[in-house]
Amino acid sequence: MSATIIDGKAFAARIRGEVAAHVARLKADHGITPGLAVVLVGEDPASQVYVRSKGKQTVEAGMKSVEHKLDVDTSEEALLALVEELNADPTIHGILVQLPLPKHMNEDLVINAIDPAKDVDGFHISNVGLLGTGQKSMVPCTPLGSLMMLRDHHGSLSGLDAVVIGRSNIVGKPMAQLLLKDSCTVTIAHSRTKDLAEVVRRADIVVAAVGRPEMVPGDWIKPGATVIDVGINRIERDGKPKLVGDVDFASAAEVAGAITPVPGGVGPMTIACLLANTLTACCRANGLPEPEGLTA
Ligand code: GUN
Repeated sequence: MSATIIDGKAFAARIRGEVAAHVARLKADHGITPGLAVVLVGEDPASQVYVRSKGKQTVEAGMKSVEHKLDVDTSEEALLALVEELNADPTIHGILVQLPLPKHMNEDLVINAIDPAKDVDGFHISNVGLLGTGQKSMVPCTPLGSLMMLRDHHGSLSGLDAVVIGRSNIVGKPMAQLLLKDSCTVTIAHSRTKDLAEVVRRADIVVAAVGRPEMVPGDWIKPGATVIDVGINRIERDGKPKLVGDVDFASAAEVAGAITPVPGGVGPMTIACLLANTLTACCRANGLPEPEGLTA
């Protein structure tokens, strides 16, 4: 193996430490405690795990954590009423409605009901538009964490060729916007892309976010490229459950210059960035300077 392994677990711990230190100063100097509300509708097991983890890490960072667990057949109207209540609550600076929502709810409607200033997921249409036009916004957590790792590894990203595989609203599209903002030449590849291998071979930076286990083999990677693997896929190998990314780690690590592992790469960065976004939202709401290095 020749690639440097980018340790997302250690990086995320560092970010959480910086957030906690900033939160302590906010409390001491201004008597302000950032607050994050997470809303979970239904009992999706994966969502329950995420929400528990978010709550724990929020408290560990010294923030206020509020969880609203609603029954799976809660009406959309009742959910919108809760969002309105949280929008109006001055102790809450960040609101996250866990996705996916049950089928009888309109996700776009619910997400766009969140006050954009409290939209720590960066999914509100206003934040999407602000990011797309290069203005100050709330930035989606997974792309933000990926960007932080890339900046940390490369310093400047200016002029680099970047390929984002996947065009989701949550990862692919915002990731491409962030890379463009940092002056990369950006290609967004997807399931209809012709000769994906050839497109990936040109890239100095590859961000894989498709949700297909190990679909990017090492011989697609340009020697020395940086690979950010956003995929978290549960598979079975040799009769045992295993977590793998969208990139075939073993072969890619032979050629890449640097690569994120799965688990322990991008995953831990997502919640760390959620805490960073909550802190940023709190500082903005109170007219205080934003934490350095924790925003895009
Ligand atoms: N479900 C899985 N990941 C996420 C996330 O980052 N935000 C929200 N709101 N829901 C999710």
